[in-house]
Parts: sequence; structure tokens; C-alpha cells
Amino acid sequence: MSSTTSKLDESPILIGDREIPTRYFLAPLAGYTHLAFRRVIRELGGLGLATTDLVLASQLVAESRKSKKLIETTEDDRPLSIQIFSGVNFELVKAAKWLEERGYKGIDINMGCPMAKVNSSGGGARLMCDTDGACASVQGVVDAVNVPVTVKMRLGWDRDHLTAPTLAKEFEKLGVSAITIHGRTRQQGFHGSVNRDGIKAVVDAVDSIPVIGNGDVRTVQDAIDMREETGCQAVAIGRGAMLDPWIFSKLKQVANGEQTTEPNPDQQVQFLRRHFHYMTQQYEDYSCLLFRKFAGWYGQKLGVPDDLEDRLRRFESIEEFDSIADEIRERHGEREATVPTALIKVPNGPVERW
Ligand SMILES: Cc1cc2nc3c(=O)[nH]c(=O)nc-3n(C[C@H](O)[C@H](O)[C@H](O)COP(=O)(O)O)c2cc1C
Repeated sequence: MSSTTSKLDESPILIGDREIPTRYFLAPLAGYTHLAFRRVIRELGGLGLATTDLVLASQLVAESRKSKKLIETTEDDRPLSIQIFSGVNFELVKAAKWLEERGYKGIDINMGCPMAKVNSSGGGARLMCDTDGACASVQGVVDAVNVPVTVKMRLGWDRDHLTAPTLAKEFEKLGVSAITIHGRTRQQGFHGSVNRDGIKAVVDAVDSIPVIGNGDVRTVQDAIDMREETGCQAVAIGRGAMLDPWIFSKLKQVANGEQTTEPNPDQQVQFLRRHFHYMTQQYEDYSCLLFRKFAGWYGQKLGVPDDLEDRLRRFESIEEFDSIADEIRERHGEREATVPTALIKVPNGPVERW
């Protein structure tokens, strides 16, 4: 048990007309935060709003198989926003309408993705370089739908172009319901540290919409520090949720004035099984391949001995998974490593080549 206290406002938060039960959100991580992960995290409690992986607007409207998978959801996967991106305004508008017509309750526009393939089409972080263009994109979407529209962005393209505060102010005037801000520039990629002063500048720039701080939150204390230092009303957690899936439930304990507790071995292995179970429901045979990516993230937290973590990276069938999970339970705690082995797989090298 550990005690951390918070004097922060922990009441539900409004994003447009949506009441979000907690102030700790799941940041989208393409390839990871699909339905199975969202469901299993929600089961642990404490998660406010989750957002899907980014979906290319034109693919969504074309109803491609891949985008349909990305927006798959269930009744227990609420509240949820769908993240879309495109460098073409009418594609964004079409996708937003398409989603609203099908009952989705929140739309998030991606203006933060640093990947070349996203930026070369004028989408992702590239939009932040052109205030008029970014505003036109946002305006088109806000005017087209009645559900709340949010924007996720970085601080700017590079440190000489920190456009986020100006954009946030403009977006608020256009009717955007909240801004999520990752406290790095596009140039930084995932390197360096998060600039909380930069996030605070966005908080200070808007009048009343919530700003959701994001970046490098790995612990309960990090989340509290993010809120205290920036004044942001909520926090989005991405990689920290894979390194410690209980981070949201611990934040809920703190919000309730309780001490935080760690999961016991049974709960840890159960979590692993349930995540994989949800994955098989959605992806059937493909689920083994998709699940292997989580091995390195989960190994340390779930007490997986190194050799079994290695098998989790390679397993090929549901039966094999079950036998690995049984063995993890039997040998739980053997592992002494304190650092996750396959940490944080992010694009690397010069950003131009991503
Ligand atoms: C593997 C990976 C995939 C990501 N995919 C998305 C995405 O689809 N949409 C998005 O807005 N941000 C995406 N991000 C950025 C995260 O949402 C987040 O802004 C960033 O990782 C910093 O937060 P964190 O330190 O809590 O992970 C991704 C990041 C990583 C590492």
C-alpha cells in the first residue's frame, strides 16, 4: 500500500455535453489501444474517457476492413471518442458525419501525429503549421456534427513554432469542446522531456474548455504533478497504462482519499488472461500476433519470468497462451528485474525518416 494524496478537483468533467466520470483518460496508442485493451483497463476502474487509435478519414468512410476494426466498440467501452485524421477537410467532415450517424458520441481530430506518412498528406502535426488551414479543418467538423469535437495536438512543429496556445484559443472560439496537449514538439518526436510550461501556456490560453495534459505520466504522482504544475483539468495517459494497467484504478483510490493498492499475483495473471480473451473475441486467429506486442510492456508489472516473457513474444495459439499463463501463475515473482525489457517502442532516429 502506498499513500499519495490529492487536493485536486476530482469531480466528473464535462466535455461538451458529455459527462466523463473521472479526469484520467486513455491516450490513443495506435496498435495497442484497441477494444480489447480498453475493455480490460475499464474493468479495473478509474478510466474516464478513452479514444480509439487514429483512423484515416477516407478509409473510414470507405468502410475499409481495418478502419471498421479500429472503431469496433461494445456497451462496456464507454465513454469513447473516435480519433480521425486527414489533410483533406471534406474527408474529415464526411468521416465525422459518418460517425455521428452511426451513434458515436465524440470525435477527436489528430493534429499531433509526427509520422511522415500522416504528415505528408497534410494531416497530423503538419496541420499545426498552418493556423488558417487548421482552423478551417476544425470549423468544418464542428459545424457538421452535434457531438462534441476535441483536438489532440503537440506544442507545435518545433521549439521555434510553439503554435499550440494560439491554435487552442482559436479552436475554442470555433466550438471545440476540449484540447489534449502532448507536451512535446513534432521535432522532438518522443525524445527529451515533456514541457509542462508549454502545457500550462495552452491552459492559460483558453477561456473555459478543459485542457487535457499528456506526456510521460507513468505513476499516480506524475498525474497529480501534471495537474498541479499545469492547471490542466484532466490527464491523458498512454504508455503509462501499458506499464501499469492499474494506474487508473490507483488514481481513483487517491481521488476517493484511499491508499493505493497493488494487484496480487492472481489479479495480475487474471488481467493477462482477460486481455487476451477480449483480443481473441475481436481478432480470432490474428489475436496471437497482436497480443505478442504487449509482452515487453507487461512482463515486469505482471511478474512474468524472463523466459516466459520471451515465449509470450512468440506464442502461436490460444492453447499455448493458456499454458504460458498457467506457468506464469506457478512461477510468479521469480523475476527480479525492475525495468521492463522491451520498453516504449516509439519511432526512432531523425523524425524526417519516420
Ligand atoms: C506506439 C504509439 C502509438 C501512438 N498512436 C497515437 C495515435 O494513434 N493518435 C494520437 O493522437 N497519438 C498517438 N500516440 C501519442 C500518444 O497518444 C501520446 O500523446 C504520447 O505517447 C505521449 O503520452 P504518454 O507518455 O502517456 O504515452 C502514440 C504514441 C505511441 C508511443
